Amino acid sequence: MDSSTRRIWESILSQSDGDVGFRVVHQAPTAAELLALRESVGWLTYPVDLAQAAFDSSLFSVSLTVNDEVVGCARVIGDAYYRYVQDVIVAPAWQGKGGGSLMMEHVHRWLLEKSAERYRGLICPPQSVEFYEKFDFQRDGVAMTLRTDSLPSGEK
Ligand SMILES: CC(C)(COP(=O)(O)OP(=O)(O)OC[C@H]1O[C@@H](n2cnc3c(N)ncnc32)[C@H](O)[C@@H]1OP(=O)(O)O)[C@@H](O)C(=O)NCCC(=O)NCCS
Repeated sequence: MDSSTRRIWESILSQSDGDVGFRVVHQAPTAAELLALRESVGWLTYPVDLAQAAFDSSLFSVSLTVNDEVVGCARVIGDAYYRYVQDVIVAPAWQGKGGGSLMMEHVHRWLLEKSAERYRGLICPPQSVEFYEKFDFQRDGVAMTLRTDSLPSGEK
């Protein structure tokens, strides 16, 4: 972790004083902020240039802030038809205080207004199903990912 990522990570882990004052801004976090957020919830991180390119190519991004500090993020990726909600994160010290819901209200509204008639989906762990059900997402199929260590036999 570089020093700027560490500084952000330490600041987003600092405890809230109870008077939260969340704001949702329609702006992507910086790559360093995104990586700090991913790390704070134990998700894999990836190179800064990839993080920047990922958010730059998103259709819609939000940052959750407290006193102008980024403590959460969410984004929508996709193309003309498919839209997927991705990177929904609230730093642990700020979870359970309504910030995730606040961000999802903005994402939900965007999906309804800008993505009517489009496919709208997401992949999430079982423990987050209830959270997304509050925003009208329904269980549908099974998520699968392509792993590079599982090529069909004989392929290199
Ligand atoms: C999921 C996450 C974004 C929710 O953010 P949050 O700020 O803690 O959520 P809120 O405080 O707005 O809580 C919203 C509601 O969902 C519930 N909820 C939140 N996370 C939940 C979870 N993991 N499992 C079950 N319920 C959850 C809360 O209890 C709350 O219920 P209520 O409205 O009945 O009180 C946050 O917990 C997080 O970043 N988790 C780690 C990363 C992650 O798993 N992201 C989503 C997967 S793609």
